[in-house]
Amino acid sequence: MATARFVGIDLGTSTSALAYVRPDGNPEIVPNSDGERLTPSVVYFDNFEGIKLVGSSARDGGDPDRTVHNIKRYMDDPHYVVEIDGVKWTPTEVSAMILSKLKRDCAKMIGEVHEVVITVPANFNELARKATVTAGKLAGLNVTRIVNEPTAAALYYAHSQDISGRVMVYDLGGGTLDITILEIDGDNIDILLSEGARHLGGANFDESLLEMLAEEYRKKNNAELFLDERQRRRCLALGEDAKKMLSKLQKITETIGNESDGIARIDLTRDMFEAAISRLLTRTVMLVEQALESIALTPPDIDHVVLVGGSTRIPKVRELLEKHFGKPPISCGNVDECVALGAALFAQRARRVSEVCNHSYGTLALFEDARTGEVRLGNSIVIPKNTPIPCAMSQTYMTSEDNEELIEVQITQGEDPDPRYVDIVGKISLEVPPGRPAGCEVTVTYSYDENQRVRAQIYDAASGLRKDVAIEYKGEGVLNEEDILRKSSFLKQLKIA
Ligand SMILES: Nc1ncnc2c1ncn2[C@@H]1O[C@H](COP(=O)(O)OP(=O)(O)OP(=O)(O)O)[C@@H](O)[C@H]1O
Ligand SMILES: [Mg+2]
Repeated sequence: MATARFVGIDLGTSTSALAYVRPDGNPEIVPNSDGERLTPSVVYFDNFEGIKLVGSSARDGGDPDRTVHNIKRYMDDPHYVVEIDGVKWTPTEVSAMILSKLKRDCAKMIGEVHEVVITVPANFNELARKATVTAGKLAGLNVTRIVNEPTAAALYYAHSQDISGRVMVYDLGGGTLDITILEIDGDNIDILLSEGARHLGGANFDESLLEMLAEEYRKKNNAELFLDERQRRRCLALGEDAKKMLSKLQKITETIGNESDGIARIDLTRDMFEAAISRLLTRTVMLVEQALESIALTPPDIDHVVLVGGSTRIPKVRELLEKHFGKPPISCGNVDECVALGAALFAQRARRVSEVCNHSYGTLALFEDARTGEVRLGNSIVIPKNTPIPCAMSQTYMTSEDNEELIEVQITQGEDPDPRYVDIVGKISLEVPPGRPAGCEVTVTYSYDENQRVRAQIYDAASGLRKDVAIEYKGEGVLNEEDILRKSSFLKQLKIA
């Protein structure tokens, strides 16, 4: 069996895609066995034959209670499980089923996939990144790199549209908004900043449209459009179709309702939809502004705004961006495929793209308030977010107590100065000789590699002792190798179609 080389996968909230680099150097989407370029990220747990259906067949039919949507939104939640027939499935396992389908279908089309690059939103935290790699392993894939979606998309734009200069990638997908500012010079891409908002995307627009439909239905039929979750989800799907139509048409008529309260014909206009989502759209523009401000840029400093994500097909999104930047944004057309296409390019030429770290890493340290003399525990940042990677940075601290024999450094992930709002992702401790006064210098160095892996080193100047550890996020929800092996052989036996 042939082997597919340079494969990239966009494991999206609403749709996923797989691409590879053709021998001529251009990336191409590999359609799934249902003949589609995009595979809905939906899994249906069939109760008759135990088949796990993935894709459009899962999305369009069957019992909503057996259908899992938008699982990517929960990749960072160690407690989230989907329970079906008394069996609990984690987001990692559900994602693995989606990846299994992509892998199997690709094998039928162009050959067996072994190594892949999988993309994640730039603001995915350590747990969600780990869960993505694990999902790949469960599906029998060797995930050589995790790459940020906007980086992949930029690579595709650089390749296909021949653009260069300072570029803003505006990615509005199903679940997240990602804004990335980068510099493209030929094949070199330098990321200057990546910001994002979780839970801001097409799924929110669908909710707004559904509210609008429910309201209109109430007016017309004096009844509720849906009474339970099942009906609500059916209506939500109709709402999504209506939303897409409104990207092309100014006005549509939706026929919707139920047997008991009657069917209503509801006229929806693009204006109504735009009004319903205007607060959300304003938020996206505010995030654009914030991103620019945080690296002291203004709209004229951006040479091109490029569009990524299915929700950028909404005309109002383009209009707002054009107004803000004074020039129309560039679209490659296949806005929902470009992340996968770029991921394939990334697999081929990883070394030429430089990225930034997606989170600040720091330690907990005592700070004295110069004015009040009050001492409090704070998050001291060692590597700030958006530092180009690979990188290594140090901070020196003073020990706070006499006779300390064990120096412990808590490793934090997050930007907030308040320790309550950051994650503790690891700990490093060093035994030091007894009988020392407070005020000994201890240097903490963090290094961050291309795969977003972090190492920490602690160095005690007085004794010359040092210790170096890899920061592996071992928090709740992270599977060990044994679990992965067990679960992946279990997954292999599942019937996935
Ligand atoms: N013509 C259209 N008009 C409006 N919205 C659209 C259109 N086509 C697709 N969408 C929306 O785009 C979203 C899917 O976009 P995309 O496939 O880029 O997201 P994703 O990659 O799954 O999500 P994310 O990047 O957030 O993980 C869905 O919410 C879908 O309804
Ligand atoms: Mg996406």
